[in-house]
Amino acid sequence: MIFDTHAHYDSGAFNADREEVLASMPRKGVGLILNPGCEEQSSRAALALAEKFPFVYAAVGIHPEDMEGERLDAIRALAAHEKCVAIGEIGLDYYWDASHKEEQKELFAAQLALACELSLPVIVHDREAHGDSLELIRRFPEARGVFHCFSGSAEMAQELLRRGWYLGFDGPVTYKNARRAIEVLEITPPERILVETDSPYMTPVPLRGKRNDSSNLVYIIQKIAELKGLPPEELEEITWANGKRLFGIE
Ligand code: NI
Repeated sequence: MIFDTHAHYDSGAFNADREEVLASMPRKGVGLILNPGCEEQSSRAALALAEKFPFVYAAVGIHPEDMEGERLDAIRALAAHEKCVAIGEIGLDYYWDASHKEEQKELFAAQLALACELSLPVIVHDREAHGDSLELIRRFPEARGVFHCFSGSAEMAQELLRRGWYLGFDGPVTYKNARRAIEVLEITPPERILVETDSPYMTPVPLRGKRNDSSNLVYIIQKIAELKGLPPEELEEITWANGKRLFGIE
C-alpha cells in the first residue's frame, strides 16, 4: 500500500470534490495519507478530515508563509488530538520572504521546542534557507522528522541522515532538471525515504500541470525505485513502513 506522507486536502483546490477524491483513495492503492496544516484554520481542517476518514492523519503547525497573527497556543491545543501525529508544516522560506528571517527562525525554533516537549516528529519546509534550517536542527538534537520535498545538497542530506532524519521526495524527481534530487537519492538509504505528493501542487510527470492527488504517487515511487534499482512494489512497501515508523502509526 502507498502512504502519501504530505498532501493538503484542506486546500480550496479540492472544494468541489474533496470527499469523493479521498473516498476513492483506498481502491487506488493509497492506504494512508498525512495532511499537514499551515496555520490554525488549516490544522483544524486537517484534523476534521482525519476524523472523517480512518486512513487520514493530520499534522498541525504554522508554515512560515502563514505566520501573520498566528498563535502557538492554538497549535499546542490542537496537537493533543489523537489523530495528530506530527508538528508541521513548519520551517523557513526565504524564497517567499527574505525580509523577516528573524521572525521565521524564532517561530521555527518555538515549534521545534514544542515538538520535542510533546515527543512528536516534525515536518519541515525549507525553501532557499538550507543553512539556517540546518543550524536550527543542530540546536534541537533530540528533534526528529522529515525534510519535506528535500531540495538541499547531498552534503546537507548526509548530515540530516546522520542525525536520524528522513527525506521527503515529491513530483520534482520526475522532472527533467531533477539532477540535485537524484544526487541526494543516490546517497539516501531506502529506509530513510518518504514519498509525498504535496497535493494539490507539484504534480509528477506525465500529469504535470493538472491538479495533483495521492494516487499519482505511483509515478514518484516508480522513478525512485528505478534510481535505487528496486522493484516499485518493494520501494512502496519500504516507504509505507518508514512513514508508519516515523509518525508512530500502528
Ligand atoms: Ni506542503
